[in-house]
Amino acid sequence: MRATERDAEMDLKAQIDRNKLPHHVAVIMDGNGRWAKRKGNVRIFGHQNGVKAVRQITEAAGELGVEYLTLYAFSTENWNRPKGEVDALMGLFVNAIQNETENLLKNNVRLSVIGELSDLPASVLKQLQSAIDYTADNTGLNLVIAVSYSGRWEITSAVKKIVKDVRAGNLDPEHIDDSVFESYLNTSTIPDPELLIRTSGEKRISNFMLWQLAYTELYFTPVLWPDFRKEHFYEAILDFQRRDRRFGRVGDQANTITVNN
Ligand code: IPE
Ligand code: IPE
Ligand code: MG
Repeated sequence: MRATERDAEMDLKAQIDRNKLPHHVAVIMDGNGRWAKRKGNVRIFGHQNGVKAVRQITEAAGELGVEYLTLYAFSTENWNRPKGEVDALMGLFVNAIQNETENLLKNNVRLSVIGELSDLPASVLKQLQSAIDYTADNTGLNLVIAVSYSGRWEITSAVKKIVKDVRAGNLDPEHIDDSVFESYLNTSTIPDPELLIRTSGEKRISNFMLWQLAYTELYFTPVLWPDFRKEHFYEAILDFQRRDRRFGRVGDQANTITVNN
């Protein structure tokens, strides 16, 4: 990184109001394939280079004092990609987790995962579990990886668990409200994201955190994920800090409240 770029990055960081940080930032890491194509390379080359951006953004979020960072790494629909790409991605997950665990420990990051884990290959599960155990006592940033995850899968899974509990007589259907429903989601211990970033210029949610995004601020950037750096993350936070969040109320009223955070 050139000195002028570092200055620009530091300048953006200094503008961030540390008292108005989002507690939870979620990211749809998109554009790896297009990044590789532009370089005349195969899609997996883009995925490999996306790991760099993961390292940078995890570090940036931790340094700022963001409490939760959720990264959408693989959707339930991504299983429908060509087998070669899926296999390469699974291999990349194993390597990346293995290579990054020491870094997570050094940066006091606690790793967790959401998604349909039983669909993952044993090698990925094993590596994930060992990194989760290894970082379990860390007290800094909570890094949540969404893998084999989708919002609809999460909601239908919650419904199944709720029906089971109702049938077993452990839950009175009359008592089901937002907070009871949330307690059956994968994210039951995690606050809703205040900010969602999607890279690559696509302006859609792609089945991500459908319940949790109810009042999230959405930020779309044309930057492709392998090019996403700390400065881009700071720009997203600064944009978030300029927003007027109303939660269905009128301006002045809403400045004093938050939804589920
Ligand atoms: C995001 O990049 C990574 C995953 C979905 C696994 P893509 O692979 O979707 O890249 P594009 O969107 O095709 O460029
Ligand atoms: C969303 O990206 C999923 C992840 C980033 C993991 P996709 O590339 O799969 O989404 P679509 O197909 O463009 O909606
Ligand atoms: Mg994509």
